Amino acid sequence: SANAMWGGRFASGPDAIMEAINASIGFDQRLAAQDIAGSRAHAAMLAAVGILTDSDAEAIREGLLTVLSEIEAGTFRFSTALEDIHMNVESRLGELIGEPAKRLHTARSRNDQVAVDFRLWVRDQCDAAEGALVALQRALLAQAEAGAEWVMPGFTHLQSAQPVTWGHHMMAYVEMLGRDRGRFADARKRMNESPLGSAALAGTSFPIDRAMTARELGFDRPMANSLDAVSDRDFALEFLGAASICAMHLSRLAEELVIWSTAQFRFVRLSDRFSTGSSIMPQKRNPDAAELVRAKTGRVFGASVALLTIMKGLPLAYSKDMQEDKEQVFDAADSLMLALAATTGMMTDLRPDPERMRAAAGAGFATATDLADWLVRAKGMPFREAHHVTGALVARAEAKGVDLPDLSLDEMRAVHEGITDDVFAVLGVDNSVRSRTSYGGTSPVRVREQIARWTEQLG
Ligand code: ARG
Repeated sequence: SANAMWGGRFASGPDAIMEAINASIGFDQRLAAQDIAGSRAHAAMLAAVGILTDSDAEAIREGLLTVLSEIEAGTFRFSTALEDIHMNVESRLGELIGEPAKRLHTARSRNDQVAVDFRLWVRDQCDAAEGALVALQRALLAQAEAGAEWVMPGFTHLQSAQPVTWGHHMMAYVEMLGRDRGRFADARKRMNESPLGSAALAGTSFPIDRAMTARELGFDRPMANSLDAVSDRDFALEFLGAASICAMHLSRLAEELVIWSTAQFRFVRLSDRFSTGSSIMPQKRNPDAAELVRAKTGRVFGASVALLTIMKGLPLAYSKDMQEDKEQVFDAADSLMLALAATTGMMTDLRPDPERMRAAAGAGFATATDLADWLVRAKGMPFREAHHVTGALVARAEAKGVDLPDLSLDEMRAVHEGITDDVFAVLGVDNSVRSRTSYGGTSPVRVREQIARWTEQLG
């Protein structure tokens, strides 16, 4: 049979395959609450400007609330023949209230309807991401506070570089996540304009009040161009961009947890709650959650590339291609939120091993830079020369199979005669981290300042 919405022009209904490729109800039912909020705002506005009678608007309002409660209760029967959430809701509204339901779509199209629904949904996700990021920052901050003084190896190229503190390392992620929050907040601000009232693409001849619906839905203002309003998905792309960068940060932390929890490193122990065992190897404690945080990043990046690709060839205004935006964004948002929750769980429970980290901190001649700096500071040597002398000392220690502090003063003097025995004071890892007091540096004094700043910000 012909379609209830546009059957006037059609003699027959769609082929089953047509219906299968066309329907979005399988996924866009997630927009139900936003769709109903948009319709309520639209109906109230139509009444306010005299397009709908107050009694019709009231019937629509009541009916939409019933539809929402049916959906929330799980009793709503979604129909593929009705294609998407917009027509499912409108059709059920018709069953409930009859004739007034047919007036709701005045001065509106599914094109501005889906644009408004999706914006509202993505806007909520920006807020949810913000909240989840704050929770993770708090967990990292607690770790930093506990271990502001714990010395651990700092790496470049995953080779021992210079000792750093656990607190410093934790606070590095707090900073990254702070910028992630900023990106979600920026995206939210930019997307917070209403497409509603753009109708199909050209606007409408009805005397609608777009500022009113914008206000009603919490938008800052109506979008200025109706063609743009129904065609734009860059708000979703910005969300995916912010989500991608955030997921990348989580993935780096996850990778560190994977490395740190190995028997070879043993810097940290993941809790039982966030570890898994092996069905064959009884000793195993696997960091599956960290690995999956790392892996889910691929889905988020994939969504971003997919939506960019979907959009890149579309002429203005709406094309059905744009229906493919939703699953990508839903999946990316779900993946990100789960990754954030899992990371927060892992970091809340995480038990670092300060002794192990400390013992590893001096390995690999990690205080060689301290020695070179000492030659500059105490002996007035140019840094390039100090670098060379220190390199020779490292080579000597390496040949003997010992660490730098294990060389005797005579052995050091054989490399450079100006070296005096106060050199040994700078070769320890504690001295090394304590000395790095430059702004933002790893010294506990500076790390405590970073912690204090963030404690104040996070409340
Ligand atoms: N289900 C559609 C989507 O997700 C809604 C808009 C349909 N508009 C149209 N002209 N077919 O994009």
